[in-house]
Amino acid sequence: MWWRDAVIYQIYPRSFQDSNGDGIGDLPGILSRLDHIERLGASAIWLSPFYPSPNADFGYDVAGYTAVDPDYGTLEDFDRLVAAAHERGLHVIVDFVPCHTSIEHPWFRERPDFYVWRDAPANNWVARFGGPAWARDPVTERYYLHSFFPEQPDLNWRNPDVRAEMQSALRFWLERGVDGFRLDAITRLFKDPELRDDPAASEPFALPLPEEYGRLSHVNSANAPDIGVALRAIREAVGDALLIGEAYLPTVQLRPYTEILDVVFAFEAMNAGPDADRLKTTVAAAIEAGKLGWVLSNHDFARFATRFGENFRAACVLFLSLPGPVFVYQGDELGTPDGPGVDPPLDRHQRDRFRHPMQWNGSSTGGFTTGTPWLPPNEPQQCNVADQEKDEDSVLGLFRRLIRLRRDIGSETRLLDSPPGTVVLERGGQLVAVNFGNASAPFARRGELALETRRGDGADPETIPAHAAWIARADHARG
Ligand code: NOJ
Ligand code: CA
Repeated sequence: MWWRDAVIYQIYPRSFQDSNGDGIGDLPGILSRLDHIERLGASAIWLSPFYPSPNADFGYDVAGYTAVDPDYGTLEDFDRLVAAAHERGLHVIVDFVPCHTSIEHPWFRERPDFYVWRDAPANNWVARFGGPAWARDPVTERYYLHSFFPEQPDLNWRNPDVRAEMQSALRFWLERGVDGFRLDAITRLFKDPELRDDPAASEPFALPLPEEYGRLSHVNSANAPDIGVALRAIREAVGDALLIGEAYLPTVQLRPYTEILDVVFAFEAMNAGPDADRLKTTVAAAIEAGKLGWVLSNHDFARFATRFGENFRAACVLFLSLPGPVFVYQGDELGTPDGPGVDPPLDRHQRDRFRHPMQWNGSSTGGFTTGTPWLPPNEPQQCNVADQEKDEDSVLGLFRRLIRLRRDIGSETRLLDSPPGTVVLERGGQLVAVNFGNASAPFARRGELALETRRGDGADPETIPAHAAWIARADHARG
């Protein structure tokens, strides 16, 4: 399995590289930047949606499953990108959005049986992005179900014709050479067949939720017990291609997903922040569950650098040393912080701050475009690829070293007892020690220093300095 310890690099096409000056990133732009990803040491790229879309949710509202939006290029551009990636040994994963289409997808009018309709709102379900999950269609005067924005009507996966259409879309991309799929909002495919109300939440959810949405326990509106039927239909279509599931659930509820998919995002560990105890618990639970992949950040959540602040470098060492695939969101490898977003916001769910264009150099548009960027870059002078290339001690330099070390790290991982504020793990021959605390913590290093977060951080072999981390090769000590 090529993905076992892979670094998978997430590209948000709109914000990666513009090639024609229209201010919107595109597929030829991505092709022109593959060197950066190869030099980072990633094994694969995951492309967020590039399908035709009216952009109510920037591509996660798909109006055609087997085409490229002209903003991003053509199918030929896609084929060229896949060929160029494969030439470099990079696998290609595409985002697949099976839960809902765009309201502008022709099916919405032509195949009403593909969606969930009622004469009146059938229950108390709430959309993830706010408001009731039922919207009135002015044309038919009926109500349809939507788990996200009203422009994203949910598909009815209980209809076998829907499953067959989705299978043929998956095969379309497989035939074009893709190596796997990231499956969006996978918990939503099957809901309670009787559409019963969601009960009030009796305890807090293990992951952050918008307030209104968090008041209910989503036992009926998502994650139905027979979800396996939908997942198996997907598996059947793709054979042994890589399937990555986005299931925003606590680790203990991921079993039905890991049974059929290859990797499921470890959102609980992503949300643990620089709290060493929470990290230890959530990381241990994810390792125990198996098939989980580590998320540094993505286009929906606060950036990795922002979440960890002064502990950012230490967090890089920890997450890039864990067993299983690691998902690096474009810009995380530079330590890009959240940006200011724009006013008025482009994304109605307030995620512009995490989607500023990639910063390739210190020019005013960061080398992203020769035109006017659809969303301005954040602070290209302070954080860009060109400057960090020249500096071994940059965040980019640290990522490259960590990814190189990952190549020959052992598979068996043990979390060791360590002082408060620290996380120490042993993986094969390596000892990985991380301190999120304000004071240096006693921990005796065994073996030779292989990496330190900053020059001199690992100087004292008896401690882990504050907000720092080191990796040692423990082989020698153990003989
Ligand atoms: C998860 C995606 O990552 C997010 O960007 C999107 O808004 C929702 N799913 C709905 O498709
Ligand atoms: Ca463009």
